[in-house]
Amino acid sequence: MRILSGIQPSGALHLGNYFGMMRPAIELQEKGEAFYFIANYHSMTSLFDPAERRRNTLDVALDFLACGLDPKRTVFFRQSDVPEVTELAWLLTTLTPMAMLENCHSYKEKIARGISPNHGIFAYPVLMAADILIYDSNVVPVGKDQKQHVEVTRDVAIKFNNTYGDTFVIPEPQIREEVAVIPGTDGQKMSKSYGNTIEIFGEEKALRKKIMGIVMDSRTPAEPKPDADKNLAVQLLKLVAPADVAKDFENRLRAGGLGYGDLKKALFENCWNYFAEARKKRAELAANPEFVNKVLADGAQKARVKAREVLTRARRASGLE
Ligand code: ADP
Ligand code: TRP
Repeated sequence: MRILSGIQPSGALHLGNYFGMMRPAIELQEKGEAFYFIANYHSMTSLFDPAERRRNTLDVALDFLACGLDPKRTVFFRQSDVPEVTELAWLLTTLTPMAMLENCHSYKEKIARGISPNHGIFAYPVLMAADILIYDSNVVPVGKDQKQHVEVTRDVAIKFNNTYGDTFVIPEPQIREEVAVIPGTDGQKMSKSYGNTIEIFGEEKALRKKIMGIVMDSRTPAEPKPDADKNLAVQLLKLVAPADVAKDFENRLRAGGLGYGDLKKALFENCWNYFAEARKKRAELAANPEFVNKVLADGAQKARVKAREVLTRARRASGLE
């Protein structure tokens, strides 16, 4: 079974990325042959600073390796080190109905936010389809927001197979319902674009400030809170604290007598400790960029072999060869 996923190098890793995508992806590497890549071509749709792209790309590599990606069993690479994917995107784009792309939530949401879209933003799901199909991927672990893009991939792959004969494996999205949407500091979906993220590998002081700054309601500490399970800090605590510790805080909040300040302090401490080991590993890796670059170069070499095989299949099927 081939498992594939990508993450854009678009900013510091936050709890939403980690619990929604990275941790499930890392757990899945035991279950089959995983291909994970840094989607630097995709980042070009919204990031126009080359130095920042380079820095973010290295950061994602460090994040993934620090959080447990095992380069001995998983193929880990930069998207742009396999340029074959852009050719496949062209083959797919000619079979992708405009209406299907116009209908994508992430595209519509960007328009609604007043962003004047470039063609890359519009065509984004087609490149993503090429990413998935070029490695004969079976399973694509992603957050809920990416599910529709995997559906587009399936539709386009089926259309290609119907038009040119059986060429592509039809992939399945894999979404963990319990962590499908991690809320941010304002209760909306945690996202870099909403400015409500909790970064994992930031400075201690910044993390504390972020968490202590979460706005709660104005009920007094003494007041019982029957809706304790809906409390944002409780929800986040459940991710980073041992289950009994999180439950204890939830119960104390429900009963009354626990102040929001103490709850947030517990969230900060558990969050900091949860990532302590990864933080240490990340610092070691950051001091050894040659190792990281070697991992990505080896990964690209392996990924490229598979990509060439599938691209050739698609070129032959469609009469280019
Ligand atoms: P952002 O919204 O911060 O820009 P990305 O779009 O780069 O995040 O997401 C990278 C990966 O992390 C994707 O697989 C996405 O589904 C997942 N992800 C991002 N935010 C969340 C969240 N709040 N909850 C669950 N998964 C998320
Ligand atoms: N669009 C994904 C995101 O923003 C990143 C991505 C690009 C991806 N290509 C992919 C994810 C292929 C899974 C499979 O998170």
